[in-house]
Amino acid sequence: MAEFLSGMKRTVRCGEVTADMVGQEVTVMGWTNRRRNLGSLLFFQIRDISGIVQAVLDSNKADEALFSKAETVRLEYVIAVRGKVLRRTGPNVNPNMKTGEVEIEISELRILSEAEVTPFNVGDANAGEALRLKYRYLDLRREDLQRNLIVRSKIAQTTRKYLSDNGFLEIETPFLGKSTPEGARDYLVPSRVHQGKFYALPQSPQIFKQLLMVSGMDRYFQIVKCFRDEDLRANRQPEFTQIDIEMSFVDKEEDVFEIIEGLISAIFKDVKGLELKRPFARMAYADAMANYGSDKPDLRFDMKLRDITGIVDGCGFGVFENAAKSGSVRCVVLKNHESDVSRKEIDKLTDLVKTYKAKGLAYYGKTADGADRCSFAKFVPAEFLDRLAAELCLENNDIAFIVADADDETTCVSLGALRCHLAEKFSLIDKDRYEILWLTDFPLFEYSEDEGRFVAKHHPFTSPKNEDVPLMKTAPEKVRAKAYDLVINGEEAGGGSLRIYNRDIQKLMFETLGFTDEEIARKFGFFVNAFNYGTPPHGGIAFGLDRLTMLLTGATSIKDVIAFPKMQNACDLMTEAPDVVEDKQLKELGIEISAGKD
Ligand code: AMO
Ligand code: AMP
Repeated sequence: MAEFLSGMKRTVRCGEVTADMVGQEVTVMGWTNRRRNLGSLLFFQIRDISGIVQAVLDSNKADEALFSKAETVRLEYVIAVRGKVLRRTGPNVNPNMKTGEVEIEISELRILSEAEVTPFNVGDANAGEALRLKYRYLDLRREDLQRNLIVRSKIAQTTRKYLSDNGFLEIETPFLGKSTPEGARDYLVPSRVHQGKFYALPQSPQIFKQLLMVSGMDRYFQIVKCFRDEDLRANRQPEFTQIDIEMSFVDKEEDVFEIIEGLISAIFKDVKGLELKRPFARMAYADAMANYGSDKPDLRFDMKLRDITGIVDGCGFGVFENAAKSGSVRCVVLKNHESDVSRKEIDKLTDLVKTYKAKGLAYYGKTADGADRCSFAKFVPAEFLDRLAAELCLENNDIAFIVADADDETTCVSLGALRCHLAEKFSLIDKDRYEILWLTDFPLFEYSEDEGRFVAKHHPFTSPKNEDVPLMKTAPEKVRAKAYDLVINGEEAGGGSLRIYNRDIQKLMFETLGFTDEEIARKFGFFVNAFNYGTPPHGGIAFGLDRLTMLLTGATSIKDVIAFPKMQNACDLMTEAPDVVEDKQLKELGIEISAGKD
C-alpha cells in the first residue's frame, strides 16, 4: 500500500550523498533502480535526477515490520528512505558510482507509489524506439536523456543571462499569424470566427523581430518554437526551438559576430568548461564550396577537395576533358587506406556520389606495394598518371576519388558528401574537438529549376553586399549577401543576415524574385509599409537550440535533446497526435474532410 509522506522531508538528493556525510542522518527520495535480496540483507539503489545511491537493510538489526515492508518494494517504486550514511569498505566500494564510497543504513522507509512492471527496462536505450517514445516519460528516466535536458536548460539560462546583460529584451511574438517566408511548408490553423481563413504557425519570428526593430526595441531575443512542415531528417523536427536574435544600428557582419561570439563562448564555458578561441574562423562561401564541397564544412579533419581541372586538358579521357570545358574535375585523396577500399566498396561510393547528381566516380590510387590502381588507365597515357600522382602527392596505399562534371557545383557537392562519408567510415574525425567557423559571403539568390526563377537563398529581407547592388539587375547569380551561418563540426548551428532597410533595395529584391506588386502587397504589405516610417539598420541571427544541444551533448539524434519529440512521420506516439477530431469541431470550423483519412 502506498503511504503518505506525512511530514518526511528530503534532506539531500541521491547523487549528492558523499563521503563527507558519513555518520550523518539523511533522507532521500526516488525511484527504485535496482534491488537485491541476499536473505538477511536487502540492497536498494535509489535514483533521482542527480544520480543513484545505495541503501541497505540488515534483518539482524532492523525491526520485522520495516524489513517485511522493504521486501515488497519492486523496481520503479517511488520510496523515501531515512537513515545513517555509512562508509563502504574494501570490495564493497564501487568506484564506478559517484556515491560508491557510501551507503545509507535504512531506519525508515515509506513506499510513496507502487509501479507496475514497465513495458521496457528503464534506462535501456536499446529498447525499440517506438516503445520508448510511446512511454516517453519512462524513457526520460534514462540518465543520458536527463543529462541532455539539463544541458539544454543550461544553454537557455546562459543565453538569457548573456543577452539580458547585453541589452537584449526578451519579447514574445505571436504563434497565430500569417505565413512567413522561410521556404518550408506552413502548418495551418483554421479560424472558427473567420471560416475559410487560416492562421499559419510561424516558421520563424523573422517578420516580427524586424518590426520590433522598427519599433525602437533596439535589441530583441526570444527562445521560441518554430514550425516547419518539411521532410524530417536526423537533425530536423517539425517543431523545433530557435534562439532568435535581432539588433539595431548594425550594418556590418562583424557587428553581429562580435556579440554572438560572446554568447557562444559563454555557452561553451558554462556547459563544457571550455574557453573558445576568438575571433572564430571565417570562411567565404565560395572557398567552402571549392575546398570542402559544402556550405557547412566539417573542419575536424582535413581531406580538402583538390582541383585537377587544369591538368586534364589533352589527357585523352573524354569524361575529364569534356567536363573541364564548362565545369570541373576535382578529387579527394584518401590517405593510407587504399587497401581497405574493395571493388564493392567503390560501387557503394559511386552510388553515394550519384545521389548528389554526379554521373560517375573515377579513382586512381597506389597499392600498398606501389602498383597503380586506376579506373581510367586504359584511356590515358602513363605520363598523365605520373603527373596526377605527383600533383596529388600520392603515396603508397593512397587513393584519389575523382568526379568530373559540366557543372562545378555538382562536382563539389558530390565530393563534399564523399569526403564526409570517408572520414566517418575510416574514423578520421577527432570527435573530442570543436571546430567553429563563420560561413560568410553567401550568394543572395539561387536559381530554382522548379520555379524557373531566382529565389532568395536566405529570405527576401537579406541585404546584398553594398558593392554588389548594381549586379542585382544584370547578374543576380553573382550578388553576394550580407548573410552568414555559424557552423560547428559540420552542422549549421545558426544562420542570419543584415537586413535590407532601404526601400529601393527592397523593391529591387522583390523585382528580382519576380513578385508582382499585387503579390508584394498581399504577402508583405504590412511589412513593407512599416519601413516607410523610419527604419534603423538592423540584423540578426537564429540558432537551432536543439542542434546546439546536440553538439554540446554529442547526441546523434535530435530526438534525444527534446523532451517530447515526434517520429520521422511527424507523429507523437505518446499522445497519438495528430488525431481525428469531433464532427462538431469540424462543423464549427466549416471544414469537411474529403479524402486522406488514415
Ligand atoms: P534558418 O531557417 O536558417 O533561419 O533557421 C535558423 C536555425 O534553426 C535551425 N533549424 C532547425 N532545427 C531543427 N529542425 C528544423 N526543422 C530546423 N530548421 C532550422 C538551424 C538553423 O540554423 N529567420 C531566420 C534567421 C535570421 O535570419 O535571423 C531563420 O529562421 O540550426
Ligand atoms: P567507363 O568509360 O564507363 O568505363 O568509365 C571509366 C571510369 O570513369 C569509371 O570509373 C567511371 O565510373 C568513371 N566516370 C564516368 N563518368 C564520370 C564522371 N562524370 N566523373 C568521374 N568519373 C566518371
